[in-house]
Amino acid sequence: MLARLRSAAVVGVDAQIVVVEVDVAHGIPSFTMVGLPDASVRESRDRVKSAIKNTGLTYPSARITVNLAPADIRKVGSAFDLPIALGILCAAGALPPAAIDEVVVVGELSLDGGIHSTRGVLPLAVTTRREGLRALLVPSRNAPEAALVDQLDVWPIDHLREALDAASTGGFASYRPRPLAVGPADPASPDFSDVRGQVFPRRALEIAAAGSHHVLLSGPPGSGKTLLARRLPGILPPLTFDEALEVTAIHSVAGLLPREGLVSHRPFRAPHHTISDVALVGGGAQPRPGEISLAHHGVLFLDETPEFDRRVLDVLRQPLEEGQVRIARASRTVAFPARFQLVAAMNPCPCGFLTDPVKPCTCSAQQVHRYRHRMSGPLRDRIDLSVEVPPVPIEHLTSEGAAEASAVIAARVVAARDRQRARYTTTAGIRTNGEAPASWFRTPAHLAADARRLLEQAAVRQSWSARVFDRVLKVARTVADLSGHDRIEAEHVAEAVQFRTGDLRPAA
Ligand SMILES: Nc1ncnc2c1ncn2[C@@H]1O[C@H](COP(=O)(O)OP(=O)(O)OP(=O)(O)O)[C@@H](O)[C@H]1O
Ligand SMILES: [Mg+2]
Repeated sequence: MLARLRSAAVVGVDAQIVVVEVDVAHGIPSFTMVGLPDASVRESRDRVKSAIKNTGLTYPSARITVNLAPADIRKVGSAFDLPIALGILCAAGALPPAAIDEVVVVGELSLDGGIHSTRGVLPLAVTTRREGLRALLVPSRNAPEAALVDQLDVWPIDHLREALDAASTGGFASYRPRPLAVGPADPASPDFSDVRGQVFPRRALEIAAAGSHHVLLSGPPGSGKTLLARRLPGILPPLTFDEALEVTAIHSVAGLLPREGLVSHRPFRAPHHTISDVALVGGGAQPRPGEISLAHHGVLFLDETPEFDRRVLDVLRQPLEEGQVRIARASRTVAFPARFQLVAAMNPCPCGFLTDPVKPCTCSAQQVHRYRHRMSGPLRDRIDLSVEVPPVPIEHLTSEGAAEASAVIAARVVAARDRQRARYTTTAGIRTNGEAPASWFRTPAHLAADARRLLEQAAVRQSWSARVFDRVLKVARTVADLSGHDRIEAEHVAEAVQFRTGDLRPAA
């Protein structure tokens, strides 16, 4: 007898319906699978057989053929175990086909018939809903993320036996979701009130948060660069629900979803400098998102940036420009979103003490030059703000009185973002100054005459490229937004220009 049911395959951060056909026929017992299954799917056979037997059911002693259609997408992973097992039970007459008709089924089986969670369930849920199918049958652990999709019936399942029970009792029970919401700020995120002194770096991060600009922090070891960078997500505006869904889909495909099923806070990713280019930007035979996509709508922190392989840093250029990364494979190209905010940290020289007021630097001028140029010009050009992080005197560390808390800074950031949102209502995809083209701000409506003169003087004196000029202009726009001004005045330019020095000064 032939059974036909639906499952789905994840492609990028999307999913495509796969029809699972199972034929159980008389003949010499065998098991054949066709339709481009890879080695991981072919292993299903043994799990399915054990799971069915250990659930107390009869595994048909027959010729079994499984077809996964369409044949042009490669099927990977263990999520086809459950649809194949249910297909066999249907074809063998143990389960009425009506029970799983128009239902998308995914889940990995263990040998005792238990059902393990699987990756990419949120994209599957979106596809199930889009195709207008009846329900999504998923491992219980994945039910919360599936339930994020509105108007979709989600059926959680823990054991193969439950499928048979459901068939005899008239159906599966629907999942009753706990309402999930995006929180204001991650309570686990560290707070700016712990940071002593560091007036300029704090201000640079506030501007970066307000306009979604990329930042470079440079300073001697132990000056607090890592300390500061980790506090950036805590002053960014909360995720909207739609943004949280985008971030959740990426984490779901990567198999990194928290138990509650929703990534409700801005991610902070800090990959080690030995990371490969595939792990950073994504890729692999079956493309998976990399760190830059896991940092989507959040922060990508590259500590000790010059220690990264230069080739690895250079692959960041295209996603920094486009807000997504495209991975081409022979069969298809998949795109992963990657709209992240970059925070790069570096020492000023190999020994680290070039800018230290007390400790002497032991590097030669040539060593310093070589070190700084490990970060290529085109990447450096894309960083809007750069700031020096000086070591904090010990007496400041022990002084009384708390510094300004993240919540206070976040309130100013939100006000500045509101001004930007009001300005950019008509332009799709642009919500912040960091994302807007600088040409918009060169007009007299945006830039006061004396502000323009000051900017031009600074550009000539420091021989900026046109790209650097535009970056400073955008930062000045954010400074003006933070102080509630419609037009960029000279004082805003003056502050923005200060954040263009730091490591960009020629090596001493
Ligand atoms: N401004 C500060 N206020 C409070 N504590 C600080 C400050 N600066 C540094 N510290 C303390 O010093 C520690 C080291 O700081 P951190 O790890 O951020 O330095 P770093 O600049 O990243 O150094 P490296 O270049 O070695 O990576 C922090 O964990 C913190 O305890
Ligand atoms: Mg550090």
